[in-house]
Amino acid sequence: MAKAHTSLFGKHILLGISGGIAAYKSAELTRRLRDTGAEVRVVMTQAATQFVTPLTFQALSGHAVHSELLDANSEAGMGHIELARWADAVLIAPASANTIARLAQGRGDDLLSTLCLATTAAIAYAPSMNRVMWADTATQSNCATLTARGYTQLGPASGVQACGEIGEGRMLDGDDLVSALASIFRTGILQGQRVLITAGPTHEAIDPVRYLANRSSGRMGFALARAAHEAGAAVTLIAGPCALATPADVERIDVVTAAEMLAAVQQRTPACDIFIASAAVADYRPAEIIGQKIKKSAAEIQLTLVRNPDILATVATSSPRPFVVGFAAETEALVDNARDKLARKQLDLIAANDVSGTDIGFGSDYNALQVIWPNGEQSLPRARKATIARQLIGLIAHHYHKKQHEKNTA
Ligand code: C5P
Repeated sequence: MAKAHTSLFGKHILLGISGGIAAYKSAELTRRLRDTGAEVRVVMTQAATQFVTPLTFQALSGHAVHSELLDANSEAGMGHIELARWADAVLIAPASANTIARLAQGRGDDLLSTLCLATTAAIAYAPSMNRVMWADTATQSNCATLTARGYTQLGPASGVQACGEIGEGRMLDGDDLVSALASIFRTGILQGQRVLITAGPTHEAIDPVRYLANRSSGRMGFALARAAHEAGAAVTLIAGPCALATPADVERIDVVTAAEMLAAVQQRTPACDIFIASAAVADYRPAEIIGQKIKKSAAEIQLTLVRNPDILATVATSSPRPFVVGFAAETEALVDNARDKLARKQLDLIAANDVSGTDIGFGSDYNALQVIWPNGEQSLPRARKATIARQLIGLIAHHYHKKQHEKNTA
């Protein structure tokens, strides 16, 4: 796999296919996307199914193809809202003049157009049509509308067209589309910055076989490491015990206890620009670690716990200090508690998550955050942790650069 495409590894790509002769090329495109390690789900418009059968894409993507907006069977499996949330990016290839017009109008009367309204993921489209249709003012104005809304236009290329004419309007080749899609994830907003992230739980030994821990899976921190790397940063991830694969090109340091995590963090803070504490560090540890396995002879035993160092507060009060981001996992008064923590620990930004539910936060693939800084806040509504991580990295980069700018102009 080309190195430039590693940012597609593990990504969820929703491939939208509209009705055009280039739909046959999307069979090869599905293959190329999967070769990068991306997971692909295909949505076809009715017209697209006239050109290539859904069965082709089912075989190539490894998943049933979706084409109906109101289909009781697929709604029971993965409905349109779930599909919209599932996607890290939507790629519409080929994008016909009709589909482009429908998207520009914000229609929601078929599955593909509805998904584009319902997703927070990046949307890219590869126009494919006869050169005169492409040059038409209506098509050009629809594309300008989509660009203004943040859609990424990929191509078209010039050359011989299916109708025999020569000109602009050919869908880009599969390789070019894969490269262009990969670059959507490489934003460069943290290019040249060094980011240090803590993730996962810590384990605090009680005796040689038992420990105190918590339900943190580490997924949020790992997703942040991946997103920061894609944003161009050099990333070091200090991870408590968790069974997750290290994101590509991220330096990982494994630790077990809060004390080990603090030591690893302190060693690296002088060489970091941004510190993100997403680890669920144990607040207390047993006062002593019993040398032998505790026998279950007594009816009751006492365990004395002592406070662990607060890693986040230690970094925030160090000098010189990096830009410091904390997390606040709360089960009540989310914003008030987080704002209090922001001030008390002298943070630049805090991401508060409600951990009272079961389908977000700890152990889940989903999260929702309220991101708070000294004079503002923003909600990141429920989405996959990969999506939330990219959005949070975007906010962190924005506030980090703003602070740097203020420092330089003070
Ligand atoms: O005060 P509280 O534990 O709720 O603060 C949570 C934030 O502080 C998280 O960002 C967590 O990573 C960090 N923290 C830490 N060291 C601790 C406890 C929490 O870095 N001992």
